Amino acid sequence: MCDSHQFGRQQALSLLWEWTQSESLRKHALAVEACVVGYGESEADRLAMTGEAREALLNLYATTALLHDFDYERHPSRGEHPFVGVRELERLGWPLEMRTAILGHAEYSGTPRVTHLDKVLFACDELASGGREEEDEGQGVCARRQPAGCDSGCGGTGCGSRRAHRVLY
Ligand SMILES: [Fe+2]
Ligand SMILES: [Fe+2]
Repeated sequence: MCDSHQFGRQQALSLLWEWTQSESLRKHALAVEACVVGYGESEADRLAMTGEAREALLNLYATTALLHDFDYERHPSRGEHPFVGVRELERLGWPLEMRTAILGHAEYSGTPRVTHLDKVLFACDELASGGREEEDEGQGVCARRQPAGCDSGCGGTGCGSRRAHRVLY
């Protein structure tokens, strides 16, 4: 696990704020964080994790959620998001588990969602994607919720919690 002082929540917020001016995108990141950390706490309970190990897991979950779309405002196309951001995260030294989960939240990346974090990020991104109408005009962040671009198989209705349940359990 990385040094939580170097790769902690404050560092993630600083990077997010530097790259993202949109209030709705910032709110989306915080909403996804709340959801992902909630599932992380459940997972930590299930694994009976305590102390530093628990803190490290929750830090990884929080920072991954905060940064999953940090490149979207500058690089919204499918050719760039989230690939540009993941390359920057690698350059800065953020952990592989984070980068893999972030790649996996974009279905078109072809990156399989294997770990609990991979699956939770994907599900929570969907749950917390309401109220991002301006981003919905693009084809990256919210593609799964667009009637024309939705590939979730829900037929354009009720993607949210049922999808999360299907993904997670
Ligand atoms: Fe997102
Ligand atoms: Fe995204």
